[in-house]
Amino acid sequence: MKIGVIGTGTMGNGIAQTFAQGGYPVVMKDLSDELLQKAVENIDNSLSRLVAKEKLNEADKQQILARIATTLSYEDFNDCGLIVEAIAENIELKKKVFRELDETCPPGTILATNSSSLSITEIAACTRRPEKVIGMHFFNPVPVLKLVEVIRGQLTADSVFDSVSGIAKNIGKVPVTVNEAPGFLVNRLLIPMINEGIGALAEGVASKEEIDEAMKLGAGHPIGPLALADLIGLDVCLAILEVLHHEFGDDKYRPHPLLRKMVRANLLGRKTGTGFYDYQ
Ligand code: CAA
Repeated sequence: MKIGVIGTGTMGNGIAQTFAQGGYPVVMKDLSDELLQKAVENIDNSLSRLVAKEKLNEADKQQILARIATTLSYEDFNDCGLIVEAIAENIELKKKVFRELDETCPPGTILATNSSSLSITEIAACTRRPEKVIGMHFFNPVPVLKLVEVIRGQLTADSVFDSVSGIAKNIGKVPVTVNEAPGFLVNRLLIPMINEGIGALAEGVASKEEIDEAMKLGAGHPIGPLALADLIGLDVCLAILEVLHHEFGDDKYRPHPLLRKMVRANLLGRKTGTGFYDYQ
């Protein structure tokens, strides 16, 4: 089965790489040749690191890369069985893409979103195939983290749920069934923790290094909440908190003003070179 991936940010690239490593032919779509070229370069670099660590040989790397095609046109998704959308966390943009996909893809194609918090049901409702729309939520870094949240919208068909769970297993992931709710499961727990870490920093409870060290050593986390915010992207953290805050209507999800200020300053973390830490 051929897989379509829309979006060439951190998640789109990781998702495309992971499908290609799992043996699936992939076609990636974005809005310009430059973005697509950059995506292929990033995947190439990511695979090269595996080669350098002797976890992959050069011939296998070339085969994986050969499975990845790029396109600017939805028409090249015609023979895809599954399309995974991984664009910005913005409901209007996602609806636009799903409307376009619904118009151009054969009726049998499964349309999945990698949204980290938005309503699958709302996205599905702008298509004529809500039973074929589903959440397939990967975690950053996608090639490393095993979890895929498979999220049912209100009308998602059982057969679609089973196919997507099976595909996740085929690429070495562990699917967890999640019924639709704001922030799904992991982000509902993880992102408020990050928001609290930012609050503790802003209040001078401890330095950023101490906050991160404390959560690593005291809670066994692989990285602390502020380093994790930098990895996820502060804009993504803010977008998820806005959804949690708006949908639950509970003040405990209110994004901390420091997070807003950093996003306004484009201090988004690793992807812009600076967040809570410097990556230049
Ligand atoms: N791509 C591929 N491989 C990567 C990678 C990347 N971007 N980043 C790290 N790795 C690999 C490394 O190559 C290394 O592999 P080996 O052990 O085989 O050598 C391994 O991962 C561990 O990396 P490091 O030794 O460099 O550093 P680490 O042990 O601190 O691990 C980490 C790095 C995997 C990022 C780890 O810190 C971690 O798991 N952190 C938590 C990440 C997390 O919580 N992610 C979820 C974010 S929430 C989300 O994504 C959902 C959302 O909607 C926002």
